[in-house]
Amino acid sequence: MSTSQVAPPVPPHDDSGRVPAHVAIVMDGNGRWARQRLLPRVAGHRAGMETLRRVVGWSLQRGVRVLTVFAFSSENWNRPQDEVGAILRLMVQALIDEVPRLAEVGVRLHVPGSRDGLPAPLVDGIAEAQRRTAGNGRLVLNVCFNYGGRWDIVQAAQALAARGEPVTEQSLAAALTLAHVPDPDLVIRTGGEQRISNFLLWQIAYSELFFSDRLWPAFDEAEFDRALAAYAQRQRRFGRTPEQVQSMLAA
Ligand code: IPE
Ligand code: IPE
Ligand code: MG
Repeated sequence: MSTSQVAPPVPPHDDSGRVPAHVAIVMDGNGRWARQRLLPRVAGHRAGMETLRRVVGWSLQRGVRVLTVFAFSSENWNRPQDEVGAILRLMVQALIDEVPRLAEVGVRLHVPGSRDGLPAPLVDGIAEAQRRTAGNGRLVLNVCFNYGGRWDIVQAAQALAARGEPVTEQSLAAALTLAHVPDPDLVIRTGGEQRISNFLLWQIAYSELFFSDRLWPAFDEAEFDRALAAYAQRQRRFGRTPEQVQSMLAA
């Protein structure tokens, strides 16, 4: 499939079991996990990659349609140069190692984020990975890399301005890098911090939030299921009263 073709839409989602269609995750705690084991921080990032591979599998099994993860933020450039370099190399290698399997199991990969400052092999690897998986529709996997929620809103506004288009909620949302998927239903952050750290901003307006104390490399299937179970208990009101929501669900 050529990149000029329109990607297939996200397939319809069966919400009867209250499984979130779109799960977004701030994968935090790699460094602390490694330090606890007297390992270099990069060992934590490597172990974190393994966790992501497992989460993709659990998401496929549970019927999640879109998984969006935060792998490297606009602000993570402020880390020591050797850690940044190691993360960039890990991403290049992960694309080489993982894309054939992702393609095989029907995952469509997107890498939302700025390409500014990324080494050429990574930019090329991302383009190739997105192209190779573009026809897949079982699960959309967004790996946000060199991504910031503020960057996303600004680049969307700039795109509209360049085209001379009016700014509306619809036009701005359509110009964001996650315009190909519905907004996240559930946002999970591991690692114990209760903040967003410039991950998705616009898109989480009505997302349910779940904070886990688990460090990302130690995030397991039971904890994933705890997050999904917590989500299933939530009443999403989108500004309405509980009674209104009850009667809408009963209809
Ligand atoms: C998240 O883990 C991965 C990235 C931000 C790249 P951290 O590296 O932030 O791990 P902690 O928070 O220092 O433990
Ligand atoms: C958020 O984690 C970014 C990613 C997980 C990629 P950070 O570790 O960078 O967040 P802060 O600095 O603790 O807020
Ligand atoms: Mg952190």
